[in-house]
Amino acid sequence: MSKDVKRTSQDFIDLEAKYGAHNYQPLPAVLDRGEGPFLWDVEGKKYFDFLSAYSAVNQGHCHPKIINALIEQAKKLTLTSRAFYNSTLGDYEKFITEYFGYDKVLPMNTGAEAVETALKLARRWGVVKKGIPNDDVKIICCENNFHGRTITIVTMSSDPDSYANYGPLTPGFIRIPYNDADALENVLKEHGKTVAGFLLEPIQGEAGVFVPDDGYLAKTKAICEKYNVLFIADEVQTGIARTGKLLACDHENVRPDIIILGKALSGGVIPVSAVLADDDIMLTIKPGEHGSTFGGFPLAGKVATAALEVVRDEKLAERAEYLGKIFRSEMKSIKSDMIQLVRGKGMLNAVVINNKPGKTALDVCMQMKELGVLAKPTHGNIIRFAPPLIITEEQLREAIELVKEAFKKFE
Ligand SMILES: Cc1ncc(COP(=O)(O)O)c(C=O)c1O
Repeated sequence: MSKDVKRTSQDFIDLEAKYGAHNYQPLPAVLDRGEGPFLWDVEGKKYFDFLSAYSAVNQGHCHPKIINALIEQAKKLTLTSRAFYNSTLGDYEKFITEYFGYDKVLPMNTGAEAVETALKLARRWGVVKKGIPNDDVKIICCENNFHGRTITIVTMSSDPDSYANYGPLTPGFIRIPYNDADALENVLKEHGKTVAGFLLEPIQGEAGVFVPDDGYLAKTKAICEKYNVLFIADEVQTGIARTGKLLACDHENVRPDIIILGKALSGGVIPVSAVLADDDIMLTIKPGEHGSTFGGFPLAGKVATAALEVVRDEKLAERAEYLGKIFRSEMKSIKSDMIQLVRGKGMLNAVVINNKPGKTALDVCMQMKELGVLAKPTHGNIIRFAPPLIITEEQLREAIELVKEAFKKFE
């Protein structure tokens, strides 16, 4: 195609359909530019981003401080592998471990890799510290979880779209209902001696922003302590200020034994993930026993440090707490029989829709897109609302008016 022919959204959609694997079904918005809470499509239409790349862009699109850190480091050194030391990793490790209050960090790239790392770490601890025979180690996970897409991770899933027809899955998992502390205790009564860890999302994001009852995290943490089982929090989506605290577990003053972070750890700039734990757990993995070519690479260290500084300096957790209350109360004020429920914490919120023909969550999202707000349905009838946390109250209220207008169109 000649350079001076203006390409339309449809051109880009057709290209992806022809040359890309069909493992996603995006909403038809072809995005070209982002700044703060806003996105622009290739036709120049401006949108409020109410997905934030599944909570990866908490700091807003192309935050200048994070982009500067990226550019400055990219001009100097990008990748060395861990075959050698580099001049950024130690500073980053010191910064992130002090920031979250753990002895050690193990740097990885994607959320799924960090979950895999946490599973390996828990299994290793189970064998060498708890004394579980190698072939008997079990990890407990929850119904309706979402931890990523590797074979082992989809083994834990209760969603056939995630696990079906991928051949033999990985042994060693027990799935229990979420938000049911008794279920955890019952399994541990029976299998406690061979269970290394309990893995959970403090709020289930992909399940549709399912917030457990108050006290669930604290209760399950206490049960884990009783049975000498590691409490492993997947905070890939809930962490880094999204829910109104730095970590969602902070809402109940629970300190996980292992924390898994990703997404907003880089402000959505490059894939950076991390696993945090204390020495007793982390040092069970020895040189050569785990790793990744890019894990902890110089760009990641600089970008993640800048991204975490933004969270602290711009008080994003406090902002999420404050703005989230406004958002939920405004959503609850909408008089529409299409809305079944509004739920969430901080700025991780969802509206559950009474899906009827022509009045589904997807129809609402398409209508919002027309009006300039981007969000996407999950599980057919749930709309997740998670704008960047740097959004101002005025901008949030402007976007809320557009959401209300979208619902009015269905009256
Ligand atoms: C809770 C949770 N864990 C893990 C992941 C996987 O992260 P990634 O897509 O970076 O592999 C996600 C992604 O949505 C997530 O929400």
